[in-house]
Amino acid sequence: MTLYDRIQATASFIREKTNTKPTAGIILGSGLGGLVDIIEREATIPYSEIPNFPVSTVEGHSGQLIFGKIGNCPVMLMAGRFHYYEGYSMEEVTFPVRVMKALGVETVIVSNAAGGTNPGFAIGDLMIIKDHINICPEHPLRGPNDERLGTRFPDMSKAYDHGLIALAKEIAAERGISVRTGVYIGLQGPTFETPAEYRMLHILGADAVGMSTVAEVIVARHADMRVFAISVITDIGVSDVPITITHEEVLEAANAAAPKMAGLVEELVKRL
Ligand code: HPA
Repeated sequence: MTLYDRIQATASFIREKTNTKPTAGIILGSGLGGLVDIIEREATIPYSEIPNFPVSTVEGHSGQLIFGKIGNCPVMLMAGRFHYYEGYSMEEVTFPVRVMKALGVETVIVSNAAGGTNPGFAIGDLMIIKDHINICPEHPLRGPNDERLGTRFPDMSKAYDHGLIALAKEIAAERGISVRTGVYIGLQGPTFETPAEYRMLHILGADAVGMSTVAEVIVARHADMRVFAISVITDIGVSDVPITITHEEVLEAANAAAPKMAGLVEELVKRL
């Protein structure tokens, strides 16, 4: 079956399981699961039941699609995402984003935990992603292009929607939440970066580094959906003393910032 046919088959399966017609799709990153409590839930589908879906393997990712409403907005949440470092191809990593489009999603919201490469940042900061640098070894659009899914050479000059960035900043200001804006650089992982790599990434123009998001955003843009993405900074790698980073610390910092981020995204969705 072609990719297009698999997307359609998966979307048909999902339409049988839920009455929600989502216009927003939200990908929840590490430890940022607060939205699963905020959504007025209508249906839950474990990834393991969904045809053509890969199965999530990482600790802290439960692996289900949740359908319902946030305010008046019909949404689907991806609780648990697929990472390239787990061994999935980029086509597998981004398959759920294709399915979002097929289900009618117009706006994709992505969150992640990221390392700070900007020395002015602090642990727990929220950073609205305004642009990205892709240095992952595989591109999600490599291979024959199916015009039904998008154009061969997608424009990426406004990958992160300027209107949504402005709206998120407005909401943050209203709530007294301080937010950074910056450039996210996507690497394959799974190692955290060396001190020399952190310095290099900062020189390259990145404010934050992570192992997700970029491929999902590329595919969302290929499919002509609007994108908003936000990182929680879980560690700062640029310092004179090399700092140790563990997955536990990353999750802890992400969990600590979760209510702030969830509140911001909740309000953003309500005002879409
Ligand atoms: N690199 C460094 N720190 C991080 C990352 C990463 O990919 N993700 C979360 N914190």
